[in-house]
Amino acid sequence: MSSHLAPQAKELTVGELADRSGVAASALRFYEREGLISSRRTSGNQRRYSRDTLRRVAFIRTSQRLGIPLAAIREALGLLPEDRTPTRQDWARISERWRADLDERIRTLQRLRDDLSECIGCGCLSLDRCALSNPYDRLSTHGPGPRRLIE
Ligand code: FES
Repeated sequence: MSSHLAPQAKELTVGELADRSGVAASALRFYEREGLISSRRTSGNQRRYSRDTLRRVAFIRTSQRLGIPLAAIREALGLLPEDRTPTRQDWARISERWRADLDERIRTLQRLRDDLSECIGCGCLSLDRCALSNPYDRLSTHGPGPRRLIE
């Protein structure tokens, strides 16, 4: 294949992007409505995506699997350069943003696991001491609201 193809020749249709990324075309259209990816329209009003959209979609899917909200993903993608194709360093820089968030959620889940481990094989559902039956009241001495999720 020639390396002198016009930029449009390197673009992907929505079907090609779906095949290559393993993400359904309906999900790709949703990402586009949400401002996570973008396309240009042909004269026949068909979507065409630049090839680096594949990496954007991979980043979105991985971030979603990690439980990152769409708004945070959109914000991170907004930090990529618009005037050139993002480099490996650009992608590394924005994915680094998830590290502190993941560390905090791992700590929260470990605390929940430790609380709930008392319940395994117990079944008492005690209002006084059971994290399953009364998780917030048990923690009320630490302040209002869902303490495990905001501490
Ligand atoms: S079920 Fe007994 S401590 Fe939770």
